[in-house]
Amino acid sequence: MEKLVINGGRRLSGRVKISGAKNAVLPIIAATLLGQDAPSRLDEVPALEDVRTIREVLEKLGVKAAFDADKNTFTVDASVIGSSEAPYDLVRRMRASFLIMGPLLARCGRAKISLPGGCAIGTRPIDLHLKGFEALGAKIEIGHGFIEAAAPDGLKGTHIYLDFPSVGATENILMAASMAEGQTVIENPAQEPEIVDLANYLNVMGARIRGAGTNAIKIDGVTKLTGRDYTIIPDRIEAGTYMVAAAMTQGDVRIDNAISEHLKPVIAKLKEAGAHIEEDVDSIHVWADKRMKAVDIKTMPYPGFPTDMQAQFMAMLAISEGTGLVTETVFENRFMHVDELKRMGANIKIDGRTSVVEGVANLTGCQVKATDLRAGAAMVLAGLVADGETQVGYIHHIDRGYDHLVQKLVGLGADIKRVKE
Ligand code: UD1
Repeated sequence: MEKLVINGGRRLSGRVKISGAKNAVLPIIAATLLGQDAPSRLDEVPALEDVRTIREVLEKLGVKAAFDADKNTFTVDASVIGSSEAPYDLVRRMRASFLIMGPLLARCGRAKISLPGGCAIGTRPIDLHLKGFEALGAKIEIGHGFIEAAAPDGLKGTHIYLDFPSVGATENILMAASMAEGQTVIENPAQEPEIVDLANYLNVMGARIRGAGTNAIKIDGVTKLTGRDYTIIPDRIEAGTYMVAAAMTQGDVRIDNAISEHLKPVIAKLKEAGAHIEEDVDSIHVWADKRMKAVDIKTMPYPGFPTDMQAQFMAMLAISEGTGLVTETVFENRFMHVDELKRMGANIKIDGRTSVVEGVANLTGCQVKATDLRAGAAMVLAGLVADGETQVGYIHHIDRGYDHLVQKLVGLGADIKRVKE
């Protein structure tokens, strides 16, 4: 087991380059399963555990997949799919493995996948994915820890209204419907930039999708998709995390390879807290010359404030001036970082879906753990400003989603290292 050891109190400064988006690359790798005739080569693929896990999933399906983490390329040859079954050990490790269900159904007419696991944030059901597949004509059976879906005569285009704009359900339905017979309309879909990136890749493969990023997506099914090359968009959550790090440490950081359009609520809230922000074509400059002021945040589906930035903002509010309210509406039970922040001296009370964060002048370093991916990022941010040494354990959660975190922070002047426990 490894842990991160951080000595707090350093002001971050310099430039950091953002990697490709985890939440775009995972569905896009799933979508490579739809590509026949030619391999797909993806660029700007981040060096993350989740990418290694989905490569193993593809391999279990008998598909050739290679990941070069140094060159950030991922190649898939899905001309032959040997199996349509994904086992428990892989799906349990990463919930996003479930995104292969849509492509397998479309391509093979059946899929058998273990019920998903993933971050322990709320119950995270998959009912919306399954309702979508059923609407497209698939028969679903659940038993012995597996979900089996079958559409021996192919999928049929239809109208689907999502009760909640689920990111994963929108992606799974989008991939399945790309090869369904006729037109599918998804109403109230997720509008995240990662949905748009997936739709763009599918269209490059030959799909006919319009309206991704709006409140209705229209898909005219095609009979065949072809493997193609594609470059993944930058990770807006990684960018947002470094923006908060710059503001919290009263630093001065230029974040390269970031699309500010994808970060509007994060930028607005950081400005409200007192940070200075300048947006450029593909970089964002963040600096701060005094302690941040408390702000209120409420997580919402895109274009609202992202739930994946909630924990990092909570770490910032813990040392800001005044009292801020953090309301989580997307996931239940996404406040596991609160107890860890309290160990460092934060003053936070949870009242249902809202946390009341009263800023303190200082946090103190101690042993804490990453309870999930973004909670782990929050603990690192807290460690960067805490007095003395902070040790963050369970960092496998952080490795799932932050590419070269230690190297990037050291490059900005942080005192952080990875050590064996
Ligand atoms: C994706 C992101 C994750 C992010 C989340 C919300 C990936 C790989 N992960 O997760 O980082 O935090 O979007 O922005 O892209 N729900 C249901 N039924 C369903 C599906 C979801 O009730 O069938 C609920 C969930 O329990 C949750 C909410 O909808 O409360 C949001 O989930 P969803 O948008 O599906 O998130 P993911 O795709 O799992």
